Amino acid sequence: MKNTLINLVTNSAKHSKNQLFSAIQPARYLKGLNKQQVGRGKTILITGASSGLGEGMAKIFAKLGYNLAICARRTDRLENLKAKLLAQYPDIRVEYRVLDVSDYDAIFTVFDAFAADFGHIDRMVVNAGIGDSRRIGKGRFDTNRRTVEINFVSALAQCEAAMNIFRAQNSGHLVVISSMSAMRGLPKHLTAYGASKAGLAHLAEGIRADMLLTNLPIQVSTIYPGYVRTEINENAKPLPFEVDAETGTTAIVAAIETRVNEACVPSLPWSIVGQAMKHLPLQVVNKIS
Ligand SMILES: NC(=O)c1ccc[n+]([C@@H]2O[C@H](COP(=O)([O-])OP(=O)(O)OC[C@H]3O[C@@H](n4cnc5c(N)ncnc54)[C@H](OP(=O)(O)O)[C@@H]3O)[C@@H](O)[C@H]2O)c1
Repeated sequence: MKNTLINLVTNSAKHSKNQLFSAIQPARYLKGLNKQQVGRGKTILITGASSGLGEGMAKIFAKLGYNLAICARRTDRLENLKAKLLAQYPDIRVEYRVLDVSDYDAIFTVFDAFAADFGHIDRMVVNAGIGDSRRIGKGRFDTNRRTVEINFVSALAQCEAAMNIFRAQNSGHLVVISSMSAMRGLPKHLTAYGASKAGLAHLAEGIRADMLLTNLPIQVSTIYPGYVRTEINENAKPLPFEVDAETGTTAIVAAIETRVNEACVPSLPWSIVGQAMKHLPLQVVNKIS
């Protein structure tokens, strides 16, 4: 009993130290993991891997030695990514499948096919998403509904499909890519988008709570990225605290590797901004949206 307690405290202190290091120095943290090739023999499934954060995460995970199961609608991009990764890291395995996440049945079919193909999936990243929402009450219900369906209902289907597999394996790491816009209700084009990402964050927290209740060894991480310049915002004017895709994905992968429950990324300034967003009056929050 005493030894178990000591192990628990030591492991939890080591865990917190890793999370702090990965948040403050994500590139250095990943360099260490790269040396260890922590992904060797393990497989990660990523949705929305044809561009932006999904593509960036795939590149970094490949460098860490992981096998990859990648999907999206634009298979020409996935084919190119696969070719590039295999040329650079010939020891890993990369497979891709076409997936439109608005086809809920296809999500289950594709995830199950990857699981059968690789035999075991260690981590699944629910990343596919769109950012095209509009002011409420301006006649754009079609656009807002589409955003909520892709970012929330399709993400729910991905979580269901992933958890089916993890429960059967009795192991796994579910990662959802939410957004800093989930922290508060936001105005203008961010209202429906932010609500979809807040829904996703709550969904992930609920699954995490369920894993605690049932004592299953499955971790759930919710990542809240700040502004990262990708195709989702390619025509936007300069955004508050924005970073390029490489900086953004480095911070995301470093957070994921610690199996953190929740992380705002890049940690600086977003973990501080996130706390402020939760407590400041809406008029002030409006200024950073
Ligand atoms: N960039 C940011 O500032 C930021 C901040 C916070 C959160 N996020 C979140 O990060 C995730 C990735 O976004 P990103 O910045 O990398 O944008 P992106 O470059 O536009 O990538 C979006 C990805 O989602 C996929 N996707 C979109 N609709 C899909 C559908 N119906 N079926 C299957 N895949 C679909 C796209 O693939 P195909 O088009 O090939 O299908 C693409 O690979 C999104 O969930 C986004 O909300 C981004």
